[in-house]
Amino acid sequence: MSASAFIDLLTMQDLMMQPLDEWFETICRSYSHPPTVVDGLLLPGFPPDNLQANTTGQTGVATLKEAFVFYQDCVETFASLGAAIQYEHTLLDFGMGWGRIARFFLRDLPLANIHGLDVMDEFVEICRNTFRSTNFHATPPFPPSPLEAGTYNYIVGYSVFSHLSERACAEWMQEFHRLLAPGGMVALTTRGRPFLYFCESMKGQGHTGYLGALSSMFDDFNAARSSYDRGEFVHSNREGVSGGGAMTTEFYGETFIPRAYAARAYSHGFVLERFQFDPPRQSHPIMFFRKK
Ligand SMILES: C[S@@+](CC[C@H](N)C(=O)[O-])C[C@H]1O[C@@H](n2cnc3c(N)ncnc32)[C@H](O)[C@@H]1O
Repeated sequence: MSASAFIDLLTMQDLMMQPLDEWFETICRSYSHPPTVVDGLLLPGFPPDNLQANTTGQTGVATLKEAFVFYQDCVETFASLGAAIQYEHTLLDFGMGWGRIARFFLRDLPLANIHGLDVMDEFVEICRNTFRSTNFHATPPFPPSPLEAGTYNYIVGYSVFSHLSERACAEWMQEFHRLLAPGGMVALTTRGRPFLYFCESMKGQGHTGYLGALSSMFDDFNAARSSYDRGEFVHSNREGVSGGGAMTTEFYGETFIPRAYAARAYSHGFVLERFQFDPPRQSHPIMFFRKK
């Protein structure tokens, strides 16, 4: 059968009407049976499974499922906060990796209105090729970014503020304030408190690699939990949990931002509208902010 036999054409109206669960199936089909075309738009392709696993811990449908839950939470929570996504809006995926999250927003926004920013040139290249878009840009680990002020209605970041240092988070929040249009919204995930128990439970199990590093990122996990409960920013950049390569200990590790800190630390520029965490459905808490 020719490749074109797999091509799946839907009308624009079909796309906008597509219920969320059908949209998830469509994105999964773009992984299992590429190419998938929706309203003349070729859905983005995927990097090799080993790269997917290295960046997200999973591959294929499993990694897409995690991304879809975040996407769905963004769509529904933005709407419930009176900031529903409109077709003419513009979105920035901060730390977009290979575009796992960004692709889901093609249901709501034209490709031209979806942008991405990442510290890794390799990911920028992958997204430029797979999305066939020049809207993906490289950035230094600390702002300023090369992007224009007042441009975006939404900034989303999955599994980025679960790694950045306190200084990097603070500086990026300031940069997001510059990049957002008035009333712009931000959705960022961070590590949740249960993850401290998970990492502690790995201690003494003989793990090496990333799991071994997680188990020893704090000498005293009780102290880390107490610090979290006092509303403090909890971060480790010990060897093995800093990303390696371009992800240096200067700005990268494992990060747990409690609700009280999120509400207080960025209050000069943002209102924390919601701190959403519903495990096991969500693996990461999401902080929803509105630009003041
Ligand atoms: C765990 S991956 C998540 C990727 C993507 N958001 C996803 O969920 O598939 C973290 C991403 O953040 C990027 N990153 C790390 N530090 C960054 C920084 N200071 N500025 C921009 N991107 C950064 C990494 O290159 C990587 O793509």
